[in-house]
Amino acid sequence: MIPVIALDGPAASGKGTLARRLAEAFDLAYLDTGSLYRAVGARLLAEGADPQDGEVAAGAAEALSPSDLQRPDLRSQAVGAAASVVAAQPRVRQALLDFQRNFAAQPPDGLAGAVLDGRDIGTVVCPDAPVKIYVVASPEVRAERRHRELIARGESSIYPQVLAEIRERDARDSARSTAPLKPADDAVLLDTSELDIEAAFEAAKRIVVEKLAAAKAE
Ligand code: DC
Repeated sequence: MIPVIALDGPAASGKGTLARRLAEAFDLAYLDTGSLYRAVGARLLAEGADPQDGEVAAGAAEALSPSDLQRPDLRSQAVGAAASVVAAQPRVRQALLDFQRNFAAQPPDGLAGAVLDGRDIGTVVCPDAPVKIYVVASPEVRAERRHRELIARGESSIYPQVLAEIRERDARDSARSTAPLKPADDAVLLDTSELDIEAAFEAAKRIVVEKLAAAKAE
Protein backbone atom coordinates (compact mmCIF):
# COMPACT_ATOMS: atom_id res chain seq x y z
CA MET A 1 0.00 0.00 0.00
CA ILE A 2 1.48 3.36 -1.08
CA PRO A 3 0.45 6.08 1.36
CA VAL A 4 -1.28 8.49 -0.98
CA ILE A 5 -3.26 11.38 0.43
CA ALA A 6 -5.85 12.92 -1.93
CA LEU A 7 -6.84 16.39 -0.83
CA ASP A 8 -9.59 18.00 -2.87
CA GLY A 9 -11.71 21.09 -2.48
CA PRO A 10 -12.75 24.40 -4.00
CA ALA A 11 -10.56 27.45 -4.65
CA ALA A 12 -8.99 29.03 -1.55
CA SER A 13 -10.31 26.33 0.80
CA GLY A 14 -6.86 26.10 2.39
CA LYS A 15 -6.11 22.69 0.90
CA GLY A 16 -2.75 23.82 -0.50
CA THR A 17 -1.42 24.85 2.90
CA LEU A 18 -2.80 21.70 4.50
CA ALA A 19 -1.34 19.48 1.78
CA ARG A 20 2.10 21.04 2.09
CA ARG A 21 2.08 20.67 5.87
CA LEU A 22 0.82 17.08 5.77
CA ALA A 23 3.55 16.17 3.28
CA GLU A 24 6.14 17.61 5.64
CA ALA A 25 4.67 15.97 8.75
CA PHE A 26 4.42 12.49 7.18
CA ASP A 27 7.58 12.79 5.04
CA LEU A 28 5.72 12.46 1.73
CA ALA A 29 6.19 14.10 -1.68
CA TYR A 30 3.84 16.95 -2.53
CA LEU A 31 2.16 17.84 -5.81
CA ASP A 32 0.00 20.93 -6.22
CA THR A 33 -1.99 19.72 -9.25
CA GLY A 34 -3.64 23.14 -9.67
CA SER A 35 -0.20 24.45 -10.69
CA LEU A 36 -0.31 22.17 -13.76
CA TYR A 37 -3.58 23.75 -14.93
CA ARG A 38 -2.27 27.18 -13.97
CA ALA A 39 0.89 26.58 -16.03
CA VAL A 40 -1.24 25.74 -19.08
CA GLY A 41 -3.36 28.87 -18.51
CA ALA A 42 -0.26 31.05 -18.03
CA ARG A 43 1.32 29.76 -21.24
CA LEU A 44 -1.79 30.58 -23.24
CA LEU A 45 -2.09 34.08 -21.74
CA ALA A 46 1.61 34.73 -22.43
CA GLU A 47 1.14 33.63 -26.05
CA GLY A 48 -1.98 35.80 -26.41
CA ALA A 49 -4.02 32.63 -27.12
CA ASP A 50 -7.63 32.10 -26.08
CA PRO A 51 -7.96 29.68 -23.08
CA GLN A 52 -11.42 28.73 -24.43
CA ASP A 53 -9.83 27.25 -27.56
CA GLY A 54 -9.73 23.52 -26.73
CA GLU A 55 -7.31 22.62 -29.50
CA VAL A 56 -4.72 25.21 -28.50
CA ALA A 57 -5.17 24.48 -24.78
CA ALA A 58 -4.63 20.75 -25.33
CA GLY A 59 -1.47 21.50 -27.34
CA ALA A 60 -0.14 23.63 -24.47
CA ALA A 61 -0.91 20.88 -21.93
CA GLU A 62 0.82 18.23 -24.05
CA ALA A 63 3.89 20.47 -24.44
CA LEU A 64 4.11 21.44 -20.76
CA SER A 65 7.68 21.44 -19.43
CA PRO A 66 9.02 21.60 -15.86
CA SER A 67 10.10 25.23 -16.42
CA ASP A 68 6.43 26.20 -16.97
CA LEU A 69 5.76 25.14 -13.36
CA GLN A 70 8.29 27.74 -12.18
CA ARG A 71 6.57 30.72 -13.84
CA PRO A 72 6.38 33.69 -11.45
CA ASP A 73 2.81 34.62 -12.50
CA LEU A 74 1.31 31.23 -11.61
CA ARG A 75 -0.60 32.46 -8.54
CA SER A 76 -2.18 35.57 -10.11
CA GLN A 77 -5.96 35.94 -10.35
CA ALA A 78 -5.84 36.15 -14.16
CA VAL A 79 -3.90 32.89 -14.43
CA GLY A 80 -6.26 31.22 -11.90
CA ALA A 81 -9.26 32.17 -14.03
CA ALA A 82 -7.57 30.92 -17.23
CA ALA A 83 -6.65 27.66 -15.40
CA SER A 84 -10.29 27.10 -14.50
CA VAL A 85 -11.28 27.56 -18.16
CA VAL A 86 -8.64 25.18 -19.59
CA ALA A 87 -9.42 22.65 -16.83
CA ALA A 88 -12.86 22.14 -18.35
CA GLN A 89 -11.33 20.75 -21.58
CA PRO A 90 -11.21 16.91 -21.53
CA ARG A 91 -8.05 16.77 -23.67
CA VAL A 92 -6.22 19.06 -21.29
CA ARG A 93 -7.22 16.84 -18.34
CA GLN A 94 -6.15 13.71 -20.22
CA ALA A 95 -2.74 15.21 -21.04
CA LEU A 96 -2.10 15.98 -17.36
CA LEU A 97 -3.45 12.71 -15.97
CA ASP A 98 -0.43 10.45 -16.53
CA PHE A 99 1.95 12.90 -14.92
CA GLN A 100 -0.20 13.05 -11.78
CA ARG A 101 -0.72 9.28 -11.58
CA ASN A 102 3.00 8.60 -12.06
CA PHE A 103 3.82 11.06 -9.31
CA ALA A 104 1.51 9.18 -6.91
CA ALA A 105 2.67 5.71 -7.99
CA GLN A 106 6.40 6.57 -7.95
CA PRO A 107 6.90 9.52 -5.63
CA PRO A 108 10.14 11.44 -6.34
CA ASP A 109 13.25 11.50 -4.13
CA GLY A 110 12.66 7.95 -2.90
CA LEU A 111 9.80 9.08 -0.66
CA ALA A 112 7.32 6.41 0.43
CA GLY A 113 4.17 8.19 -0.68
CA ALA A 114 2.64 11.45 -1.80
CA VAL A 115 0.11 14.15 -1.07
CA LEU A 116 -1.75 15.52 -4.11
CA ASP A 117 -4.11 18.43 -3.86
CA GLY A 118 -6.65 19.43 -6.48
CA ARG A 119 -10.27 18.96 -7.52
CA ASP A 120 -10.47 15.38 -8.77
CA ILE A 121 -7.66 13.51 -7.01
CA GLY A 122 -9.97 11.29 -4.96
CA THR A 123 -12.48 10.77 -7.76
CA VAL A 124 -10.33 10.40 -10.92
CA VAL A 125 -6.55 10.68 -10.48
CA CYS A 126 -6.11 8.38 -7.45
CA PRO A 127 -9.45 6.67 -6.81
CA ASP A 128 -7.66 4.01 -4.70
CA ALA A 129 -5.89 6.48 -2.40
CA PRO A 130 -6.09 5.20 1.20
CA VAL A 131 -6.72 8.74 2.48
CA LYS A 132 -9.16 11.17 0.85
CA ILE A 133 -10.00 14.49 2.41
CA TYR A 134 -12.42 17.00 0.92
CA VAL A 135 -11.74 20.46 2.33
CA VAL A 136 -14.61 22.95 2.34
CA ALA A 137 -15.21 26.47 3.67
CA SER A 138 -17.94 28.99 2.91
CA PRO A 139 -17.40 31.20 -0.18
CA GLU A 140 -17.22 34.28 2.10
CA VAL A 141 -14.47 32.78 4.28
CA ARG A 142 -12.51 31.67 1.22
CA ALA A 143 -12.87 35.07 -0.46
CA GLU A 144 -11.64 36.76 2.72
CA ARG A 145 -8.58 34.46 2.86
CA ARG A 146 -7.76 34.98 -0.82
CA HIS A 147 -8.26 38.75 -0.47
CA ARG A 148 -5.80 38.92 2.44
CA GLU A 149 -3.32 36.70 0.59
CA LEU A 150 -3.38 38.98 -2.48
CA ILE A 151 -2.94 42.13 -0.37
CA ALA A 152 -0.04 40.52 1.52
CA ARG A 153 1.62 39.78 -1.85
CA GLY A 154 1.26 43.44 -2.82
CA GLU A 155 -1.40 42.79 -5.48
CA SER A 156 -4.48 45.01 -5.61
CA SER A 157 -7.64 43.28 -4.43
CA ILE A 158 -11.28 44.26 -3.94
CA TYR A 159 -13.19 41.89 -1.65
CA PRO A 160 -16.57 41.87 -3.49
CA GLN A 161 -14.72 41.17 -6.73
CA VAL A 162 -12.75 38.30 -5.15
CA LEU A 163 -16.00 36.83 -3.79
CA ALA A 164 -17.67 37.07 -7.21
CA GLU A 165 -14.65 35.37 -8.82
CA ILE A 166 -14.66 32.58 -6.22
CA ARG A 167 -18.37 31.95 -6.90
CA GLU A 168 -17.76 31.97 -10.65
CA ARG A 169 -14.84 29.54 -10.30
CA ASP A 170 -16.86 27.21 -8.03
CA ALA A 171 -19.67 27.15 -10.57
CA ARG A 172 -17.32 26.42 -13.48
CA ASP A 173 -15.28 23.78 -11.60
CA SER A 174 -18.45 22.02 -10.37
CA ALA A 175 -20.51 22.20 -13.55
CA ARG A 176 -17.98 20.87 -16.07
CA SER A 177 -18.80 17.42 -17.39
CA THR A 178 -15.26 15.98 -17.15
CA ALA A 179 -14.03 15.35 -13.59
CA PRO A 180 -16.16 18.00 -11.87
CA LEU A 181 -15.36 19.26 -8.40
CA LYS A 182 -17.13 16.94 -5.97
CA PRO A 183 -16.19 14.79 -2.99
CA ALA A 184 -15.42 11.11 -3.59
CA ASP A 185 -17.96 8.82 -1.90
CA ASP A 186 -15.32 7.68 0.55
CA ALA A 187 -13.79 11.13 1.26
CA VAL A 188 -13.81 12.61 4.76
CA LEU A 189 -15.28 16.13 4.75
CA LEU A 190 -13.23 18.76 6.57
CA ASP A 191 -14.99 22.12 7.00
CA THR A 192 -12.39 24.80 7.80
CA SER A 193 -14.83 27.77 7.91
CA GLU A 194 -14.46 28.05 11.67
CA LEU A 195 -10.92 26.69 11.98
CA ASP A 196 -7.62 28.52 11.88
CA ILE A 197 -4.77 26.83 10.02
CA GLU A 198 -3.39 25.08 13.14
CA ALA A 199 -6.78 23.61 14.08
CA ALA A 200 -7.41 22.56 10.47
CA PHE A 201 -3.95 20.93 10.31
CA GLU A 202 -4.54 19.01 13.55
CA ALA A 203 -7.92 17.79 12.27
CA ALA A 204 -6.39 16.73 8.93
CA LYS A 205 -3.54 14.92 10.72
CA ARG A 206 -6.03 12.92 12.80
CA ILE A 207 -7.88 11.86 9.65
CA VAL A 208 -4.62 10.76 7.98
CA VAL A 209 -3.45 8.71 10.99
CA GLU A 210 -6.82 7.01 11.30
CA LYS A 211 -7.21 6.24 7.59
CA LEU A 212 -3.63 4.97 7.13
CA ALA A 213 -4.04 2.68 10.15
CA ALA A 214 -7.31 1.36 8.71
CA ALA A 215 -5.70 0.77 5.29
CA LYS A 216 -2.76 -1.10 6.87
CA ALA A 217 -5.11 -3.30 8.88
CA GLU A 218 -6.99 -4.38 5.72
O1 DC B 1 -6.26 24.94 -6.87
P1 DC B 1 -5.99 26.06 -7.88
O2 DC B 1 -6.75 27.32 -7.59
O3 DC B 1 -4.54 26.31 -8.06
O4 DC B 1 -6.55 25.48 -9.28
C1 DC B 1 -6.60 26.27 -10.44
C2 DC B 1 -7.67 25.71 -11.39
O5 DC B 1 -7.26 24.44 -11.89
C3 DC B 1 -9.03 25.48 -10.75
O6 DC B 1 -9.95 26.50 -11.01
C4 DC B 1 -9.53 24.20 -11.31
C5 DC B 1 -8.34 23.53 -11.93
N1 DC B 1 -7.96 22.27 -11.31
C6 DC B 1 -8.62 21.13 -11.72
O7 DC B 1 -9.55 21.23 -12.51
N2 DC B 1 -8.24 19.92 -11.25
C7 DC B 1 -7.25 19.80 -10.35
N3 DC B 1 -6.89 18.59 -9.91
C8 DC B 1 -6.58 20.97 -9.89
C9 DC B 1 -6.97 22.19 -10.38
